[in-house]
Amino acid sequence: MIYLDNSATTQPHPQVIEAVKRAMDNYYGNPSSLHSMGIEAENVLKQARQVVAQALEVKPSEVFFTSGGTESNNTALKGVAFQFQQRGKHIITTQVEHPCVYDVCKQLEEFGFSVTYLPVDEDGRVSPDELVRAIRPDTILVSVMHVNNELGTIQPIDQIGKLLKQHPKIVFHVDAVQSFGKLPIRMHEWGIDLLSLSAHKFYGPRGIGVLAKREGLQIQPLLTGGGQEAGLRSGTENIPGIAGMAKAIRLAEEDRDEETKRLYDQLQRLRQGIEQLPDCVVNTPKTGTAPHIMNFSVPGAKAEVLLHALEERGFLVSTKSACSSKTGEPSRILLAAGMGHERAVSAVRVSLGRNNQTQDIEQFLLALKECINYIRPLMKK
Ligand SMILES: Cc1ncc(COP(=O)(O)O)c(C=O)c1O
Repeated sequence: MIYLDNSATTQPHPQVIEAVKRAMDNYYGNPSSLHSMGIEAENVLKQARQVVAQALEVKPSEVFFTSGGTESNNTALKGVAFQFQQRGKHIITTQVEHPCVYDVCKQLEEFGFSVTYLPVDEDGRVSPDELVRAIRPDTILVSVMHVNNELGTIQPIDQIGKLLKQHPKIVFHVDAVQSFGKLPIRMHEWGIDLLSLSAHKFYGPRGIGVLAKREGLQIQPLLTGGGQEAGLRSGTENIPGIAGMAKAIRLAEEDRDEETKRLYDQLQRLRQGIEQLPDCVVNTPKTGTAPHIMNFSVPGAKAEVLLHALEERGFLVSTKSACSSKTGEPSRILLAAGMGHERAVSAVRVSLGRNNQTQDIEQFLLALKECINYIRPLMKK
């Protein structure tokens, strides 16, 4: 099988698996314990925090370990909302966020918060000027993702951050789950207060992630208890996951520029190939996108039918994001970008990773052509 679903999750790097195993074998002490094994585990934790801090160019005290992107995003949004609700109850986000931001906003509305869901253009991109126009005296939080998980669109985070510097009381959260390890992220330079990462998207283990929080910003914890992670995230630390994530970060940092270029070249070839196929429409914008995501539709066909036809030929792809692909509804993201119902129900996402080779793309394009010929008689006219 050729795995082309790297936005859903990635295969852990062999060195990551080794690091996890090493931590499980040797560092099973609880970092809060006062004896030598506790101290050893605490040292692993400290080193890993240092690795994350260096990669994000932040202080180790600004790094908080969580169970992944969903928890980091929930902590950021609910943590800010509950901390600053006396000051205001208005939140600004976009119509194209991942459900673990979008649905949290919906939930916060039930708690009396008011949310502006900014529209996006045909590329799925939000306008920084429109965002600024949406600011109200009671706005406490802006949450915008760096890279969209369905289209691959890069949002103008640096521009938004610059504009928000005029509003220092508004907290700026960025979901960088799809961009970390592929694109540069300048947390402090771009004025980001809170940043979410998830290790399984960059060849790390499942169930571990980071919420980076600017020094001096206080937010409410989602999980209270033993007071780990400076009280922001209670719960015994997942040392194997943390050690594995630190290894994945080291590896990603080592060859990020080369790997990103390699992926962009493959993505470009993929786009050319898909554009030449009859009945196909590419949904991912031509410019300003991440190196690993290509979304396209075969209007008239059902995305699931195409997905299974591709799987029969040995290629694993996705319809929408992994967590919403089972709902069978049109993609909220493609609808928001004005691509229409037909394109939104027939969209397929191909996402590349470090294991994919150029010949995988060539073979995929041949298989896709075959699949379209096979399903054409079943397509709606
Ligand atoms: C943009 C984005 N944010 C958040 C998440 C959730 O991350 P996790 O799976 O670590 O909870 C995902 C995963 O699909 C994602 O693509």
